[in-house]
Amino acid sequence: MDKLISLQQVHKTYKIKGGLVRALNGVDFEVEQGEFVALVGPSGSGKSTLINMITGIDRPTDGEVHVAGQRLTHMNEDQVAGWRGKNVGVVFQFFQLLPSLTVVENVIMPMTYAGTYKNGRRERAMELLDLVDLADIADKYPSQISGGQQQRAAIARALANDPPLIVGDEPTGNLDSVSSGLMFSLFEDLVAQGKTMVMVTHDKDLAGKAPRIQEVRDGRLLGGAEINRRLVGNGAGR
Ligand SMILES: Nc1ncnc2c1ncn2[C@@H]1O[C@H](COP(=O)(O)OP(=O)(O)O)[C@@H](O)[C@H]1O
Ligand SMILES: [Mg+2]
Repeated sequence: MDKLISLQQVHKTYKIKGGLVRALNGVDFEVEQGEFVALVGPSGSGKSTLINMITGIDRPTDGEVHVAGQRLTHMNEDQVAGWRGKNVGVVFQFFQLLPSLTVVENVIMPMTYAGTYKNGRRERAMELLDLVDLADIADKYPSQISGGQQQRAAIARALANDPPLIVGDEPTGNLDSVSSGLMFSLFEDLVAQGKTMVMVTHDKDLAGKAPRIQEVRDGRLLGGAEINRRLVGNGAGR
């Protein structure tokens, strides 16, 4: 398995009152190490569900998921959580920093959880905060800093255990265009350093800058040519 991400015929069905929702409907999705993929598609098309399959936050009803050398579909919840802590940095739309911890404590947390960097957690956290230009506010609480700063702290936290894969579910969804642009450049830098990035975005300008765009429609992936034509048609295919 040389792909960093490989989903084969992944289906996800949710049971709801009065029936079933087919969130994913036979998805084949492969990502090479070092790729930068933007996932786009209408609300409800299955983007978050797909992200949750990749991170192992949720599991498929049917199909196979291999990520970073592991077959997630054959691991139990604890095994997946342990694997995720070291292999996937997840960045969410609403940042999800712990409000009772300072910025630097939030970045240290994944190292504590995974038992990594035992002798230098604070130093490593400070290096990562420096990378996202937050070293000077390391001891503030999330409520004391801006949304853009919170999201950069969330990225530092995502990098804590040096995972090969960074995944974002609308990471710029709550940021102004300047902060979104900064965030995107940061992702580009990470990819240039060898990380793999998969990011859901509604922002057509940002998606248009990603080297690969993958559109999700009704729980399926559309082919590349079709997407590029549509984005060009919308004036965002630069
Ligand atoms: N936990 C859940 N229970 C029931 N239905 C869900 C759940 N999560 C997602 N869905 C449904 O699955 C479909 C895909 O959702 P989602 O992956 O969140 O789409 P997107 O992120 O593209 O907006 C939607 O119809 C949504 O309502
Ligand atoms: Mg979503």
